[in-house]
Amino acid sequence: MASFPKTRLRRTRQYAWLRDMVADVSLTPKDLVLPLFLREESDDKEIKTLPSVERYSISELPSIVEKALTLGIPAVALFPKTPTSLKNNDGSESFNPHNLVCDALSLLKKTFGHDLGLITDVALDPYTSHGHDGIINEAGIDNDLTVSLLTKQALTQAQAGTDILAPSDMMDGRIGAIREALDHHGYQHTLLMSYAAKYATHFYGPFRDAVGAGSIASLDHPELRHKKTYQMDYRRQHEALREVAQDIEEGADMLMIKPATLMLDILYRIKSTYSMPTFAYHVSGEYACLKLMQQQGLLVYEDALLEILYGLKRAGADGIFTYGAMDAAALLKV
Ligand code: PBG
Repeated sequence: MASFPKTRLRRTRQYAWLRDMVADVSLTPKDLVLPLFLREESDDKEIKTLPSVERYSISELPSIVEKALTLGIPAVALFPKTPTSLKNNDGSESFNPHNLVCDALSLLKKTFGHDLGLITDVALDPYTSHGHDGIINEAGIDNDLTVSLLTKQALTQAQAGTDILAPSDMMDGRIGAIREALDHHGYQHTLLMSYAAKYATHFYGPFRDAVGAGSIASLDHPELRHKKTYQMDYRRQHEALREVAQDIEEGADMLMIKPATLMLDILYRIKSTYSMPTFAYHVSGEYACLKLMQQQGLLVYEDALLEILYGLKRAGADGIFTYGAMDAAALLKV
């Protein structure tokens, strides 16, 4: 590299057109996935801890999805708020073929066919009365029993027409078990996006409110008031590679890393090590930070959102789940 003054790196930063021309990271609406919260008709639209995000009833879904497609967003990810009366200790509503997610899947598949990507979360937390992603036994969270229920949930969603199953629970062995069950039942083409490196974080709070799974914070046993016995410890980095290697071995088609902006190093390492389709989830707490800063006049939301999304692409994300997907897509279209 030539040195100053022959080389002046500022030369390529002089004009907007020039900055645009030399930019080497790209972001388009096609990179974005819009998470959507589902509610029963009678339930609240508003999510108090997640500004400008709301829950949709099944009948409201087609119009919001139409809007997303028009903006160029290819896929939505569905998360239900299950009525309390349908929750129990083993989350059995998760494999009711007429639960909120399955009804939404059939309607969206019928309305949009293959023009829309449907991604569904495989995890028990919106369905258990305690709010955990797994079944509780005397020893804590029962891994293998949970995996058998997740497999039932996954099959139910596959039957209702999901394109991509996204297990977000972090139990050991669930990718292999689900892949085997899918293949056995004729769903060889249903994809698996594994939340392979999912860290326990304080930034999932608003999401837990949105799906009504905040109850874990007040459980009796202190070791049950968090998800650290299954989600990863943010003081560990190398273990992420083992989590991912195992999920690839078990049949994952795509990987998810989260929380996105806190795990940029992990995202970078995983994309460069495995070259798999790799996604990042800009999670509810990360999004709420932006919105609250906007409300305080501390930043321009639109500019800051794009900065974050470009940062994730730079670190290696092929796609990004963000509550700001519609806003970002509208900005990128103009
Ligand atoms: C549930 C799940 C969570 C998120 C996605 N799937 C919450 C959790 O693990 O507690 C978080 C997403 C967000 O915060 O936006 N398994």
